[in-house]
Amino acid sequence: MLAGRYRLDSIAEKRDLKKQRMVLPSVLPCAAFATEEPAAPWAVEITDVCKSFRRGSTSIPVLRGVNLQVQRGECVLLVGPSGSGKSTLLSILGCILEPDSGQVALLGNAVRPSDLVALRRSRIGFVFQGLRLVRGLTSLDNVCVPTMIRGDDPASSRVHAEKLLREVGLGDCIHARVEQLSAGQCQRVALARALVNDPDLILADEPTAALDVQSGQQVMQVLRQLIATRCKTAIIVTHDPRIVQESDKIYAIEEGRLEMRSRRGAKL
Ligand SMILES: Nc1ncnc2c1ncn2[C@@H]1O[C@H](COP(=O)(O)OP(=O)(O)OP(=O)(O)O)[C@@H](O)[C@H]1O
Ligand SMILES: [Mg+2]
Repeated sequence: MLAGRYRLDSIAEKRDLKKQRMVLPSVLPCAAFATEEPAAPWAVEITDVCKSFRRGSTSIPVLRGVNLQVQRGECVLLVGPSGSGKSTLLSILGCILEPDSGQVALLGNAVRPSDLVALRRSRIGFVFQGLRLVRGLTSLDNVCVPTMIRGDDPASSRVHAEKLLREVGLGDCIHARVEQLSAGQCQRVALARALVNDPDLILADEPTAALDVQSGQQVMQVLRQLIATRCKTAIIVTHDPRIVQESDKIYAIEEGRLEMRSRRGAKL
């Protein structure tokens, strides 16, 4: 397993890291991810991940030993019945939730608690199931929120955010407040926001749920293009049969574990 492989042990290595921090203050590197990235084949590698939630005095096991390996440049779908743990797994991959046990390695490095914030800010783009857009702000300002958190240059961030909004078909809604938009338009704002920091790993929780056929295809085209041209990796939770053809692999959560499925839904 990868745990501990990229620890910075020597004083010289730590000094180098300090120098890098001074040159790139806005990138917020954490120790493991500031080192030169190894040519690891896996964008995601998780082993025996378990997660339970407490309900009153009872512990409800949701993930019971999940294993998953996703290559860089793959587009993987995660399916399963409501309540099976799809969002829980995605949140663990997105460094939003910590597993109770098991190992998580992202982009070739074992994830440690001290890495979570930096990974979320700079390497992972997350589309939440409930979108979590900020009411009262425009589409453009919503998309810019992650860049403000990182401390990026506001002018160039806005130019980039506008470009992304146009790419997802929202050129006419750039200055509209999000409460003036339809559900599908809000979903596309959330996708643009997830992409604004140019993440290596895109995690999307039902990103086409509120979209008509054309908008759904537009969203998938943006994702496919990013994956193909920039070797991004995407894991998409979905109930949407229309995007099955767009994926490289499909996994179903079944009784707390992952099983690979064919495009027709058969067990492999
Ligand atoms: N914070 C929490 N506290 C307690 N239980 C939780 C919490 N989050 C999720 N759960 C429970 O974990 C289980 C899996 O939830 P999760 O949201 O991951 O399911 P899901 O597969 O994404 O479902 P859906 O398709 O409806 O979105 C559910 O039984 C849910 O009630
Ligand atoms: Mg969910």
